[in-house]
Amino acid sequence: MENKDNRLVQKILTLKEKRGAIILAHNYQLGEVQDIADFVGDSLELSQKAARTNAEVIVFCGVHFMAETASILSPDKTVLLPDINAGCPMANMITAEQLRRRKGELPGAAVVCYVNSTAEVKAESEICCTSANALKVVESVDSDEILFVPDQYLGHYVSTKTDKKMILWPGFCPTHIRIKPQDITRLRLEYPQAKVVVHPECKLEVIALADEVLSTSGMCRFAQTTDAKEIIVGTEIGIIHRLRKENPHKRFIAVSEQAVCPNMKLITLEKILWSLDDMTPQVKVPEEICLKAKTAVDRMLEIGRSQ
Ligand code: 13P
Ligand code: SF4
Repeated sequence: MENKDNRLVQKILTLKEKRGAIILAHNYQLGEVQDIADFVGDSLELSQKAARTNAEVIVFCGVHFMAETASILSPDKTVLLPDINAGCPMANMITAEQLRRRKGELPGAAVVCYVNSTAEVKAESEICCTSANALKVVESVDSDEILFVPDQYLGHYVSTKTDKKMILWPGFCPTHIRIKPQDITRLRLEYPQAKVVVHPECKLEVIALADEVLSTSGMCRFAQTTDAKEIIVGTEIGIIHRLRKENPHKRFIAVSEQAVCPNMKLITLEKILWSLDDMTPQVKVPEEICLKAKTAVDRMLEIGRSQ
């Protein structure tokens, strides 16, 4: 690490102590951000940490819906998102008003909502899910008809594994649709011994070519337990940092260098320091929405993960 970064890290750690803060980071964060975090994980693990921490302040290094979920679960804590512009385009592909209208058209359907959604949309949903438990959540719901929002690809993947009727919202992740089947086919020829892991936000043609379809932390666990020495990774490239750090003797090949989430990359060491210094920007969900959204998130946490 360069001296400048070293000094920055020391300042962050000192201020973190002073504020009684915990730093949570998603697997897609910049390497230097992952390295200073108290915990790095997928959406489900980060929600679980946010629900259980004793820290007064949570610095959330991720995107807006993740910080919102932390605020929903720990409404008395201060949740900082070091760049308030770090949004998730998929989460913004559905509004609460649009969901209410669609629910009106489908009175028999239960709404299962991917955690990549706004608090208002969660508040209109029966239960949330993440990529680590979507099938388990859908199976747990007491209805044979599911309105799944907002990710059509995760929803479609689940629909191939359940007998329930799934009605899909046409949302998608602009980063994961950059992952192309032809890139996997080419890399398989180049690395014939490699295993291919992809995220369920990928397109159907990509999922069809994978050995494993996993959440980001599911990929980290797979990398540690598989005998394969080469792993082709179909998700946002930030995860490669953690995979290499935890498995120095294995080779990780990103399917596409274009699979970058620009919002995740908005969080930098400088912004983390400023955020702890000013105690802004804070993310706080209004009480009425928080209470309803919490029911949907709590139901998901009771179910836990399936991979
Ligand atoms: P995970 O929950 O698998 O970490 O995924 C979150 C996400 O935003 C993927 O794009
Ligand atoms: Fe949203 Fe896609 Fe970025 Fe995940 S990778 S936060 S789904 S835009």
